[in-house]
Amino acid sequence: MAPHDNDFDKDAGSGSASQEKFVFPRWTNWLREASAVAALGGLVYAVVLVTGVFSPENSAIGYAPEQPVPYSHALHAGVMGIDCRYCHTSVETAAKANIPPTATCMNCHKTVRTESPKLELVRRSAETGEAIPWIKVHDLPDFVYFNHAGHIQSGVGCVSCHGRVDRMEVVEQVKPLTMGWCLECHRDPEPNLRPREFVTDMEWVPAEDPVELGKRLRAEHGIAPSTDCTTCHR
Ligand code: HEC
Ligand code: HEC
Ligand code: HEC
Ligand code: HEC
Ligand code: HEC
Repeated sequence: MAPHDNDFDKDAGSGSASQEKFVFPRWTNWLREASAVAALGGLVYAVVLVTGVFSPENSAIGYAPEQPVPYSHALHAGVMGIDCRYCHTSVETAAKANIPPTATCMNCHKTVRTESPKLELVRRSAETGEAIPWIKVHDLPDFVYFNHAGHIQSGVGCVSCHGRVDRMEVVEQVKPLTMGWCLECHRDPEPNLRPREFVTDMEWVPAEDPVELGKRLRAEHGIAPSTDCTTCHR
């Protein structure tokens, strides 16, 4: 029995070992089966890890890496009220929302806070032409196709997928970005539709019955999000 015990421990990996150990003495016949299942589980887990499906960037709510420059959305987009599209200029027209080049920052910072040590890297980047190494926060696996323009044109606001960015000192992922999350909205988009002119407005609330508004906007723009696999996996 002892050797089996060892084998089992190895195969079970990080599984619920304590429970299996407890059951083990009386259920020796199940042992091989259990080990096989555990080994298979380990294999699937490894495949999943390699494909990056569970990497923290795409499933971890709360992921908020420290950025090379302490740039604050709460200050710039919140207090100062700069529209998202002043910096993320491609968000309405392209699949990717661009991160602004240093030149956009320098529109103001060549005259604002020119001595601030917090802007040291921004000034250096402007001088050398070397981009600021911003760290990506939201990151879908490569086998998923996503397109900002399609969503923004349909009247889905930034806040539906990114939360109150205008209150964030450091950008944080607030939605799971899992397939289930995408599909939930594709099956029932109406609660997330708003008139297009408010897509970047973080405080917009419907002035009329939201259920009626969702229905009306959906019909007006012929919105019918697809749940076909090939929409997101091409
Ligand atoms: C003055 C320029 C500026 C404005 C205005 C701005 N952003 Fe940003 N945004 C940035 C920069 C720079 C980054 C990269 C650094 C960071 O993540 O904080 C960024 C990052 C982001 C990210 C994370 C990107 C990633 O890596 O996943 C999101 C989401 C985002 N912005 C949404 C918004 C929204 C929504 C608004 C409007 C409410 C907005 N931004 C307004 C400059 C801006
Ligand atoms: C429309 C003008 C404008 C733009 C564009 C702008 N900023 Fe600012 N930023 C300001 C102002 C004004 C302040 C200072 C607010 C205050 O007095 O506290 C500031 C403050 C800052 C600070 C804090 C400085 C300190 O000493 O506390 C940082 C860091 C910063 N900005 C980074 C950036 C980066 C990075 C970008 C480009 C992605 C950017 N800003 C774009 C106007 C701007
Ligand atoms: C339907 C959900 C959804 C909406 C609406 C949305 N985003 Fe995103 N955003 C995402 C996802 C998902 C990613 C990650 C994309 C990837 O990794 O390929 C992302 C990534 C980003 C990035 C990083 C660059 C990139 O494209 O990967 C920025 C910046 C950003 N969004 C800004 C915005 C702004 C600004 C708005 C509103 C004008 C907005 N987003 C609306 C889901 C959304
Ligand atoms: C909050 C609602 C919402 C969420 C969340 C959402 N979508 Fe969508 N999606 C829509 C709507 C609305 C449309 C537009 C359908 C139309 O034009 O008929 C759309 C369209 C699309 C399209 C086709 C349009 C194009 O530009 O090619 C793709 C691809 C897509 N979504 C991928 C995704 C993926 C991947 C995710 C998750 C990471 C996601 N969506 C999350 C609402 C959403
Ligand atoms: C609206 C967009 C969307 C549609 C439609 C969609 N997927 Fe996905 N799928 C995703 C996203 C996003 C992920 C990544 C999930 C993550 O990183 O957690 C994913 C991941 C997967 C994975 C990897 C394993 C997993 O479950 O995370 C498989 C397999 C998969 N999808 C198959 C399918 C099949 C089969 C269909 C059709 C029945 C389909 N998908 C339809 C968005 C979609």
